Amino acid sequence: MEEFVTLTYNGQEIKLPVVIGTEGEKAIDISGLRQDTGFITLDPGYANTGSCLSAITYMDGEKGILRYRGIPVEQLAENATFKETAYLLINGKLPNRDQLTRFSVMLNDNSLVHEDLKAFYQNFPRASHPMGILSSMVNALRSFYPELGTTEEEINSTMTRLLAKVRTMAAMSYKISRGHRVVYPRPDMTYCENFLNMMFDTPVKPYEINRAAVNALRVFWILHADHEQNCSTSAVRVVGSARVNLYAAISSGIAALWGPLHGGANQAVIEMLTAIQADGGDYKKAIERAKDKNDPFRLMGFGHRVYKTYDPRAKIMKKMCDELLDSLQIDDPMLDLAKELEEAACNDAYFIDHNLYPNIDFYSGIVLRAVGIPTNMFTVMFAIGRLPGWIAQWKESMDDPKWKICRPRQVYTGNLQYDFIPIHARI
Ligand code: ACO
Repeated sequence: MEEFVTLTYNGQEIKLPVVIGTEGEKAIDISGLRQDTGFITLDPGYANTGSCLSAITYMDGEKGILRYRGIPVEQLAENATFKETAYLLINGKLPNRDQLTRFSVMLNDNSLVHEDLKAFYQNFPRASHPMGILSSMVNALRSFYPELGTTEEEINSTMTRLLAKVRTMAAMSYKISRGHRVVYPRPDMTYCENFLNMMFDTPVKPYEINRAAVNALRVFWILHADHEQNCSTSAVRVVGSARVNLYAAISSGIAALWGPLHGGANQAVIEMLTAIQADGGDYKKAIERAKDKNDPFRLMGFGHRVYKTYDPRAKIMKKMCDELLDSLQIDDPMLDLAKELEEAACNDAYFIDHNLYPNIDFYSGIVLRAVGIPTNMFTVMFAIGRLPGWIAQWKESMDDPKWKICRPRQVYTGNLQYDFIPIHARI
């Protein structure tokens, strides 16, 4: 039976339909509100706005639940490959053997990038941030691979091409930034092995596959693969709604992810921990600063728009961090500091009252450091992981006949009309 919410204003009653998701989440459909009443809704930061119906990712911020296409992220982190997870997100179900083989072959076949792209990389100033470079280069792919396709098969190959090439482009940017020879992808390696090999193999020191590092990367990417309508995914959907090409939409997602309040937090956490170490390890001072409303400082890697409990991804990441450092026999004082800081913050009334817990970025930087990834590449690692999610969300929006151009309204608070003042009369 259809449910409604009744809004009463000035004696007028407006019935608004209730939409109920498969997990029982309720939303009020206000899409007809303006037409019926002249009202719009106001929700800065969209904290209470459902922008779409989506069958990709389910999260419950109170219970700390995250599932991709119905499968708990914990099970995927334990059992799946990143490739299977990407396929699951984009196609809605796990691939069977044949589908996985076909997907792997397509990823392999598309993993090289146009040699001319190298020239672009070489011309960026050395100090450029890799996220800025990646965002520009992904946008540039449209010029190198203009055939985007219109049939399902053609669109599938554009999506696979992007998945295959971004990993190569990320490793390539690292090599070029170091002034090293670019290492090409190899067909005999898995998705994660290939990336590490492209990053770390050199003519003088061939890269030896390290199982613990490969596994850490697999889990890291799976945990980042999708997170429903977060800032960068919303950017992809909003930009995509103007019917730009897939590369342009993803490029906007990369730009959004760069921000320190979003994906850039993994880099910011390491910078914060480094600064605390330089300050003699006084993490309590950082906590006091984070609580001080006159200080813009925030505890990076803490807090989340949706999770009001421990981020389930952070739980897995923390455990993995311990296991990885153990297996690589790394004694990283930064991990000890992070744990002390976490414990102190989680027992502090301010953080308890504000429901602020570690998010995925709190421990992910320490994992990436142990794998050998330089700090300025951390957010690029996040972007590679999030790519399947962005692609799946873009595809879902494009397949949705009701997906319109995104065009929110506003409540105007500026000047009332007044007349143009000639320059000699202006004060
Ligand atoms: N340190 C100190 N106080 C915080 C923090 C923090 N990390 N996060 C939120 N708060 C406080 C705010 O000051 C505010 O307090 P008030 O109500 O007393 O004024 C309250 O908690 C709510 O904060 P908002 O900024 O309104 O929460 P919002 O949902 O908009 O922001 C965000 C979420 C951006 C993640 C925020 O918690 C933050 O800035 N965290 C640090 C950056 C970070 O780790 N980002 C990664 C997020 S996960 C991801 O993108 C992968």
